[in-house]
Amino acid sequence: MRQYSSHGRLALLALLSAASAVAGYEVTFADSDYSRQVCSGMWGDSNTYINVTFDPRTSYGQVAMAIYEWKDVKYLGAVTSESDDSLPQKTYVCTTDAVTSGLCLYQDIGKFIYSSDDGTPMNQTSFWTASVTLDQMVSSHKQQEKRGGTASILTHPIARQESETLNPSPAGTLTYTGPIQYQVRKTGYYCVAIVPVTIIPPTTRQVSSDTPSHPTYSGVVLFQNTFDGQLPAADYPKVNFYLSMFFAYALLGCAWAWLCYRHMTELLPIQYYLSGLVAFMIVEMAANWVYYRYLNAHGKNTASIVFLFVVAILDAGRNALSFFMLLVVSLGLSVVRETLGRTMIKCQTLAAAHFVFGVLYAVGIVELSLESTSALVLLLFVIPLAFTLSGFLMWILHSLTGTMNQLAARKQRYKLKMFQRLYYILLGAVVVIAIFFVVSSYSFSDRLAEDYAAKSWRARWWLLDGYLALLFFVAFWSIAYLWRPTENNRR
Ligand SMILES: *[C@@H]1O[C@H](CO)[C@@H](O)[C@H](O)[C@H]1NC(C)=O
Ligand SMILES: *[C@@H]1O[C@H](CO)[C@@H](O)[C@H](O)[C@H]1NC(C)=O
Repeated sequence: MRQYSSHGRLALLALLSAASAVAGYEVTFADSDYSRQVCSGMWGDSNTYINVTFDPRTSYGQVAMAIYEWKDVKYLGAVTSESDDSLPQKTYVCTTDAVTSGLCLYQDIGKFIYSSDDGTPMNQTSFWTASVTLDQMVSSHKQQEKRGGTASILTHPIARQESETLNPSPAGTLTYTGPIQYQVRKTGYYCVAIVPVTIIPPTTRQVSSDTPSHPTYSGVVLFQNTFDGQLPAADYPKVNFYLSMFFAYALLGCAWAWLCYRHMTELLPIQYYLSGLVAFMIVEMAANWVYYRYLNAHGKNTASIVFLFVVAILDAGRNALSFFMLLVVSLGLSVVRETLGRTMIKCQTLAAAHFVFGVLYAVGIVELSLESTSALVLLLFVIPLAFTLSGFLMWILHSLTGTMNQLAARKQRYKLKMFQRLYYILLGAVVVIAIFFVVSSYSFSDRLAEDYAAKSWRARWWLLDGYLALLFFVAFWSIAYLWRPTENNRR
């Protein structure tokens, strides 16, 4: 028994300590990738950088590499031909053909082509490019294996010259022996492009049988941000956001608890429900915070997937409970009637169904993204949830107007005012959601997906998670304020 509890405590400690595995956001790449580019937003300061590491066991041949910030993408490549439309629009890599066409210089063969219309020199942009040969790495790796050495101290092949240029592009061919580092000093959206280059080996060079003629490679790009941890820069704000939300809920929860304590004897059933919901939401915010913290410290693994399910279940529970509460309030429980009778069972059934479908939906989203299933299967997860959701909304609206009519007929002005306020809060929430929906789909349409990611990465957490959580917070506490315990509760 004691062992169990100490194990539990250890697990909790491991969960909460983000310092155990300090690393940046990592993305793997390989020659078989469809995309030749790895991009990510980055928060920059004086210590941030990008490291590109090739795997010595699988990398041979020669590649062209470029690293740049997205606003400088216009300098990448040269227009192939002003007149001939049959050719591709731009040539990106300097080959012998490109030199013949006058698009780049002979000394730049094997690099990405840099071109600017206004004559901006490369060293004044974020652009960095190199022709990198990976063969040296293979042979030195093999020699080490022969010698039986496992540990290797790899040094950067070019000594850093003291120059004003932050990331000087190397002249000639860079022989890869260790991670290639690119200094990042400004927050932005950075891309690493890697393209295999097939060069005809000079006749003097002995082509060994185990070197394939097509370059193959794999490796990892490390984006080292201002923070320690493995979350992408776009997701990192969520850690602090959920922590702040947790404190905000806990603070208002304390105020709520104090009010309940002061009016203990005259609490209404609705206020008991609300208290339960408050406790639930404090737990949910804490769970979200711990989830992102865990993801930042340890990356994606089995435990993080289990965690994701826990968070998804809590989320679905919160949604079902809140809609249930709204429905019960709209039906006039505690205000126009003491109990709901059989209607209560219907409400509970609807809430239970909404919860189950919410969990199914959350699980479905994760499962379906793993394997590409048809849209029809996706609909099977979405439709039941959409049904219970619209059922809730219609019922809430219907019963709210019913209760308001009833109160108007009975000339209960004070209560009517309460329900009118509730109506305005709900209306406001719907309007805000609609505006956000229109704005975000407008900003999404008519743009290249990559361009959109480059421009919106800073706001993505807010568009996907932030504003809904904040809207929920505001709406919930406004409603809770209307139904707060007071002296003349029962009246
Ligand atoms: C930048 O490159 C230009 C030539 O392209 C060179 O004349 C200039 O000295 C370089 N500036 C720095 C700061 O290295
Ligand atoms: C990044 O690359 C630099 C230069 O090769 C190297 O000194 C450093 O250890 C690398 N950092 C990480 C975290 O791999």
